[in-house]
Amino acid sequence: MRVLLVTGKGGVGKTTVSAATALASADAGYRTLVTSTDPAHSLADAFDLPLGDTPSNVVPNLDGQQIDGQRQLAKHWGQINDQLKAVFNWGGVTGIEAEEFLVFPGMDELFALLEVNDHVRSGKYDVIVVDCAPTAETLRLLSLPEVLSWYFERVMPTERKIMRAARPVLERVTKLPMPSEAVFAAADNIFANIEDVKRLLADSAITTARIVINPEKMVVNEARRTYSYLSLFGYAVDAVIVNRVLPDSIDDPYFKEWQRVQARHLVSIDESFPDTSRLRLRLFDEEMVGLDRLRILGGELFGDHDPIASYEARPPFVITEEESDVIMTLTVGYADEGELDVIRHGDELYVTVGPYRRAFILPDSLKRRIVSGAKLSGVELKVRFSLEETNG
Ligand SMILES: Nc1ncnc2c1ncn2[C@@H]1O[C@H](COP(=O)(O)OP(=O)(O)O)[C@@H](O)[C@H]1O
Ligand SMILES: [Mg+2]
Repeated sequence: MRVLLVTGKGGVGKTTVSAATALASADAGYRTLVTSTDPAHSLADAFDLPLGDTPSNVVPNLDGQQIDGQRQLAKHWGQINDQLKAVFNWGGVTGIEAEEFLVFPGMDELFALLEVNDHVRSGKYDVIVVDCAPTAETLRLLSLPEVLSWYFERVMPTERKIMRAARPVLERVTKLPMPSEAVFAAADNIFANIEDVKRLLADSAITTARIVINPEKMVVNEARRTYSYLSLFGYAVDAVIVNRVLPDSIDDPYFKEWQRVQARHLVSIDESFPDTSRLRLRLFDEEMVGLDRLRILGGELFGDHDPIASYEARPPFVITEEESDVIMTLTVGYADEGELDVIRHGDELYVTVGPYRRAFILPDSLKRRIVSGAKLSGVELKVRFSLEETNG
C-alpha cells in the first residue's frame, strides 16, 4: 500500500503533478486511485474527463475521484451537528450564529481524508494519490485532535454510562437536549477514523508527501513552512517538485530576467531542502491537459524512477519535550562547538555549523519561545526553546 500526498501553494501545478503521477503509476501496473481533497477541484480538467464524488474509471488500473467535502461532512457529521445545534439553540444561540460554531475551518477537508482512509481499508488499490488542498492545514488539523475534543467535551459529556443513567432526570430538570446513543456512536466512529488516518499518514513506509513549488519567492517561502510543519508532525516529505522551470534553451530576451530570477530561486531551493530529493519540471510550451500530455509530463518528471517508490526522505528535525522546554534536534554533521552559530530572527531560525547553513521557519508552537541554548553532540545539534521569562 502506498499513499502519496501532493501538496503546495495554489496554482503551482499540484493537480497536474497528481494526475501525471497517478497515470504513471497505473501505466506501471499498480491499481491506482487519484483523488482530490482540494475544494477547488480540477482533476477532471487535468484529465479532460468527467469525475465525480464516487471513483470512476479513467484508464485501465486508474480510477479518479473528486471528493465532495460538503457531502462527506453531511454524511459523517450530520447527526452530531443536529445535536450540537439543539444544544446551541437551547443556550439561546440560533440561526447563522449557531452555524458558525458548528463547522470549523478545514472540517470538510478532514472528512475528505476520512474517505481516503476508507479507500485504504477497502484493499481495492495499491496506490492512492491525493491531490491536497493548498496548505498543510489539514495535516495540522489531524495533529490537533484537541480541536475536536474541545467540541465533544464541552457540548457532549463523554461519560456515556453516567449519561445513560442521568438522562431521564436531566431531561426533566433542564430540558437540555441530551445526546442519544446514536450520536455517541457516531462521535466514537469519527474519533476512531481520525486516529486511523493519523497512523496512516505518519507511517512513512506507506505515506510520503511531495511538495510542488515554482521557483518564485512567495512559493518557496510557503513550501519551507509546509516542510517544517510536515516534519514537525512526523510526516515524511520524499520529494520537492520544482515545476515551471524555464528551459535554458529559451534565449528570447523577454525571458532573460525571468531566467535570472529563477536561477536565484533554484539556488535557494537547494539550500532550503538539502535533505530531500528535488525534481525539476520544465515549463512546457502548452497547457499540460489530457492523457497524452500528462504522460509526457510524467515521463520527464520520473524518468526511469518508479513513480511511487519513495525518494530518499529524512526528517529535517525532530522535536521533543524536556519538562517545560522544547528541544529541536537537527542532524548537522560533525563540527566544532566554535563553528556553531544559532540565530533567531523573527519567525526564522538560522543555524550555521561550519560550512553548513540552514534556515528554518519556526512552527507557531516554537515562535512563542526563546532560544535558551544550543549544544552539539556528535552529528546532532540540540536547540533548546524555553518559555519567555515574565518580568518582575
Ligand atoms: N510545467 C508546466 N508547463 C505548462 N503548464 C503547466 C505546467 N504545470 C502546470 N501547468 C498548467 O498550469 C495550470 C495550473 O496547474 P494546476 O495543476 O491546476 O495547479 P494547482 O493544482 O496547483 O492549482 C494548468 O492549466 C496546468 O495545465
Ligand atoms: Mg489543483
